[in-house]
Amino acid sequence: KNDSLLFSPITTRSVTAHNKIVVAPMCMYSAENGYMNDFHLAHLGALALKGVGSIFIEATAVEARGRVSPHDVGLWEDGQIAAVKKVVEFIKAQGSVPGLQLNHAGRKASMGSPFSGYRLILEHEGGWSQDIVSSSELPMNERHANPRALTVDDMLLVKQKWVDAALRADKAGVEILQIHSAHGYLLHSFLSGNVNNRTDQYGGSLENRLRYPLEVIKAIRDAWPAEKPFWVRISSSDFKNDGAFSKDDHGWDIYQSIEYAKELKKLGVDVIDCSSGGILPDVKYPVGPLWQVPFSETIKKEVGIATGAVGMITKGSEGESILQENKADFVCVARQFLRDSGFALTAARELGVSVKWPNQFERARQ
Ligand code: FNR
Repeated sequence: KNDSLLFSPITTRSVTAHNKIVVAPMCMYSAENGYMNDFHLAHLGALALKGVGSIFIEATAVEARGRVSPHDVGLWEDGQIAAVKKVVEFIKAQGSVPGLQLNHAGRKASMGSPFSGYRLILEHEGGWSQDIVSSSELPMNERHANPRALTVDDMLLVKQKWVDAALRADKAGVEILQIHSAHGYLLHSFLSGNVNNRTDQYGGSLENRLRYPLEVIKAIRDAWPAEKPFWVRISSSDFKNDGAFSKDDHGWDIYQSIEYAKELKKLGVDVIDCSSGGILPDVKYPVGPLWQVPFSETIKKEVGIATGAVGMITKGSEGESILQENKADFVCVARQFLRDSGFALTAARELGVSVKWPNQFERARQ
């Protein structure tokens, strides 16, 4: 008998995952011109072979200048669809649900990967440091480019890029779309008054700061098939002040995140993935096991929407308690899957739940 919540199925719209473990999106900085390749197939394929419910493909750029690094995955041109489709079909064939996160890196674009030295990549090195866009002209810090503030006309063009990329993800067979509105990238740069200093209808009050992200997300949701689930990742707080629940009225905090999530719910967003931070330099995050779970719990309770909890979840028992205590609907795990691609099977064993192994691996199951 299986009384585990972690290892029971969950259905969102027409898509059922056989468990609630989710691989959170993780940039691998290994694509060429935005094209996925064998690296991505081997990496994500290994996770799919080992019993994960849903797998998100890494932050995928909606336009070339919206890549974090020159080696990000992209869906800004039709040619990129086939490479994504190959990975998506493999994930599906193993019984996992393929998701994909769309992103525009905004003022954090044109950087080197962490393993090649996280620094601004200049034009002659394959970067685009002179074509960086954001809500405002404020740079992230001296290591990043100086952005240009998008005009309202530019914003319409960029919105269309998001929609076109979403349609390509659909063509590739992606079943869950996730919009990245966290970690200091373009949409977050509009939400947060710590970066957005606009004086037009897209800056100032909370209502104004929400406007562009909501317009973009509405357009994407309307274009994304109604039967397919739709997630939005948020930075629940900028952590400008100490503590997760401290106020930052003109910046970005959990209270504004609640209002944002209420609006997202009205647009037909199914799940809020509750991350935090990434927008301000020199912030000390109170990192530790399960440290962001209170954000998920709060959004879930205050908004009445499904949530994903993420951040230093490394054990099956932790995932199980988060669900038993009703603090999230999905348990999202990133780095533990890099340490142990079989984390879902490890967690099942830890919890004493019997799960199906791939036929090819069955003889290794005890
Ligand atoms: C990440 N993270 C991340 N987040 C996101 O929204 N889009 C992305 O593409 C990436 N890329 C990425 C790459 C790598 C190598 C790491 C380690 C992390 C953040 C990630 O999804 C997750 O929120 C954090 O890592 C916290 O979860 P864990 O690692 O503690 O389980």
